[in-house]
Amino acid sequence: MRLEGKSAIITGAARGIGRAFAEAYLREGARVAIADINLEGAERTAAELGEGAYAVRLDVTDQASIEAAVGKVVERAGRVDILVNNAALFDLAPIVEITRASFDRLFSINVAGTLFTLQAVARQMIAQGEGGKIINMASQAGRRGEALVAVYCATKAAVISLTQSAGLDLIRHGINVNAIAPGVVDGEHWDGVDALFARYENRPLGEKKRLVGEAVPYGRMGRAEDLTGMAVFLASAEADYIVAQTYNVDGGNWMS
Ligand SMILES: NC(=O)c1ccc[n+]([C@@H]2O[C@H](COP(=O)([O-])OP(=O)(O)OC[C@H]3O[C@@H](n4cnc5c(N)ncnc54)[C@H](O)[C@@H]3O)[C@@H](O)[C@H]2O)c1
Repeated sequence: MRLEGKSAIITGAARGIGRAFAEAYLREGARVAIADINLEGAERTAAELGEGAYAVRLDVTDQASIEAAVGKVVERAGRVDILVNNAALFDLAPIVEITRASFDRLFSINVAGTLFTLQAVARQMIAQGEGGKIINMASQAGRRGEALVAVYCATKAAVISLTQSAGLDLIRHGINVNAIAPGVVDGEHWDGVDALFARYENRPLGEKKRLVGEAVPYGRMGRAEDLTGMAVFLASAEADYIVAQTYNVDGGNWMS
């Protein structure tokens, strides 16, 4: 097992990609905090995943909530070795319709949430003195703009940039900060994305999903399980020499 005895926090792990990562980390021997704003969902997921998984309430937009969640993990597991900054929100609108509220909400969760959760966990890791692994969830959306997706794309470009800066700063403490950039991953998140495209591009429900899946060089949309290999690798000692990188795991959608 590659994560034997490690203590991990995965934000937004009540469902989707975060949940799949939790399952993979548990299989590799870690204890995993399912940290989500949806406590009921996190508790259900932790119960379903079984021994080693436990739920923690976390709102990544709230500093007190971040501190409390890290405190609970330390209380429960004694330490933190791995953080996956996975919680995020999506929205879609033409440039002329973007609202300040949507901009603030997305930047607050996707960017400030990522930075300040990373900061709180990094402080704990520095105090422990044994390094750690931090993985941020970026996106192919952070690699280039998209007509209707300006704000989300900008948040994910910011995540790639924060990964570089934090990676360069924290490696002197033995903390590796890297990111994963998925392409299009099927699940409840993409059901919501599809519904937004249906509204703004005047399409029947399900059509956008079908089209983006067909456009992936691999031949289909991703599944959360397609990303777990990279998530386990970046959390393991095998990734000790990897610093400040963002890896595409997207079936060939993006190539730099
Ligand atoms: N699904 C995709 O196609 C795709 C593609 C590229 C990148 N990503 C990224 O991967 C990550 C996971 O995506 P997903 O598809 O599993 O998303 P999802 O919407 O299914 O899950 C997000 C989780 O975050 C939680 N959350 C929302 N706001 C929160 C907050 N303020 N504090 C704590 N938790 C909060 C939600 O309750 C939910 O459980 C995200 O960062 C997303 O941007 C997803």
